Amino acid sequence: MDVSHLDPIEQTALLTEYCRALDHRASRPILGDDLADRTVSQIDFDFAGLAATPSVVALVALRAKMLDARIRGFIDANTDPVVVDLGAGLSSAVFRVDPPPTVDWYCVDLPEVIRLREALLPERDRVHTLAVSLLETGWSDLIPADRPAMVFADGLVAFLDEPEIIAILRAVTGHFGSGVIAFNDYGPVSKANQLMGRLATSRTTNSPHSQWRFPGFRDARHPETWNVGLTLLEESSVMHQPEARFFPRGLRFASRLSRRFPAIARKSRILQYRF
Ligand SMILES: C[S@@+](CC[C@H](N)C(=O)[O-])C[C@H]1O[C@@H](n2cnc3c(N)ncnc32)[C@H](O)[C@@H]1O
Repeated sequence: MDVSHLDPIEQTALLTEYCRALDHRASRPILGDDLADRTVSQIDFDFAGLAATPSVVALVALRAKMLDARIRGFIDANTDPVVVDLGAGLSSAVFRVDPPPTVDWYCVDLPEVIRLREALLPERDRVHTLAVSLLETGWSDLIPADRPAMVFADGLVAFLDEPEIIAILRAVTGHFGSGVIAFNDYGPVSKANQLMGRLATSRTTNSPHSQWRFPGFRDARHPETWNVGLTLLEESSVMHQPEARFFPRGLRFASRLSRRFPAIARKSRILQYRF
């Protein structure tokens, strides 16, 4: 499948899916997503030009595993929920989580990405795609508002600026009666950090670092100041999970250091807010 028409922001979906495919091919996978592997193998693209280092692969796989567990927990605790994947890309989260038929699952992404998703991923009952920008008002109109909502974003926030993230969170809390929003972030990401990321991956033709826009935040309670409807439920570092023992050596060392230096732990975290 040709993907040369995707623009750089849409191409970011290829990196995360490729990372999960590489994790599946590893001798000790963290996530073990065989569908990601099969999806990537249908795409004609220079994946080597992405900055998919072993550390990035491990972090992407483990944060997906952590989000899956939180989605399963929400589904178990609520009858008849909806799950909404913001910036779903090619993610096979719905196949990994495998929700019961009481759950409706919505994948929201830009039109070209949704077109690709529909061409590559198997159809599944009660999975709905919304081909729309999250920056447009009304993107949530087709999603039932009266059911408990598990809204999540894996890999989205880095590519938006703070006012855009605030607007999306307001759209979520304004639309759904109640629920949880979960996403991954990277702690504070200064302009210098962003520049370093770009320089470190400048040899790669297609590094997502060139698309990075979010300056991030240190205190996990910060989003509560954006939106009075949000209450922090959880801040968990990917670095602190038992699977960190499968990390490549350098990242394993960083994971040990992160116990003493919270700034390192914040570099890869999962945040959950109730609304
Ligand atoms: C790094 S990818 C992550 C994709 C997917 N969540 C995953 O884990 O593979 C970021 C995704 O956000 C999508 N995205 C970026 N800006 C968006 C917007 N304004 N509206 C909808 N989707 C957007 C991109 O098209 C891309 O699919």
